[in-house]
Amino acid sequence: MSDVQSPLKLAERPQGIDGIKIVPSTVRIGAEIFGVDLNQMLSDAVIEVIREALMTYQVIFFRDQPLTHESHKAFGRRFGELFIHNGVAGIQGHPEIVAIHADANSKYIAGDNWHSDLTMNPQPPMGSILYLHTLPEVGGDTLWASMYAAYDALSDRMKAHVEKLTALHDGEHVYRPIINDPTKTYPCSAHPVVRVHPVTGRKALFVNPSYTTRIVELPKPESDALLAYLHQHCQDPNFQVRFRWRPHSVAFWDNRCTQHFAIYDYYPHVRSGFRVTIAGDTPIGA
Ligand code: SIN
Repeated sequence: MSDVQSPLKLAERPQGIDGIKIVPSTVRIGAEIFGVDLNQMLSDAVIEVIREALMTYQVIFFRDQPLTHESHKAFGRRFGELFIHNGVAGIQGHPEIVAIHADANSKYIAGDNWHSDLTMNPQPPMGSILYLHTLPEVGGDTLWASMYAAYDALSDRMKAHVEKLTALHDGEHVYRPIINDPTKTYPCSAHPVVRVHPVTGRKALFVNPSYTTRIVELPKPESDALLAYLHQHCQDPNFQVRFRWRPHSVAFWDNRCTQHFAIYDYYPHVRSGFRVTIAGDTPIGA
């Protein structure tokens, strides 16, 4: 694989800003952060270290953080306005928090297909922070894939082709079957197939098999074939990190340059927690 920027750069610099330690999980994506208590009011300097780590590693993990709803929201708000989910209702008293819960009676499992969150919106969320308090003894891991790495690994010819394209991202087929409300409508938005990250300036593939239905500029058979190829390409394990949750772990991902997949391999056991989502901006093409 060529041309992949190493995320080890940040880890090589002196550690210990306010006692923080950052341990990369792979060379392309993911890092675990130690020495931070997310239930505390964090200093601007600590938030900056976390923000920089997120920009570099794309998904960051914290252990042993028994988050209250208030701390969860307060931590999220340090990175932007919280986004109200337009598919799933928030929990009582906290419209910004959605429950992520599965047990033996669940009819729907959140996130058990590759996706970035809510890309059907004209301004998809910048990121999400997931806190899980209850985990099965085994199973229930989540995979994240770097869409920078997926873009970087394409041939120059394919890069040039897909950079000129836009794709439709539709919420209708995702939420209609799980939310029994005929009065609701779900957005459908066109986004560039290659997105330039507004902070890092790096290019990322921005199509996912959950929401993306069609490449606008191509006839349907070509659109279907190209999307099938891109979806398969994005699922290359070389672009991935796999996170083994423990009770009270937190994952914070950048939705603009990653996809994720919550593995449902723990039926009939319980996996449960809460997610906040941070508002984002209009995706800009290459
Ligand atoms: C999600 O898609 O936000 C759920 C991820 C997970 O449950 O691991």
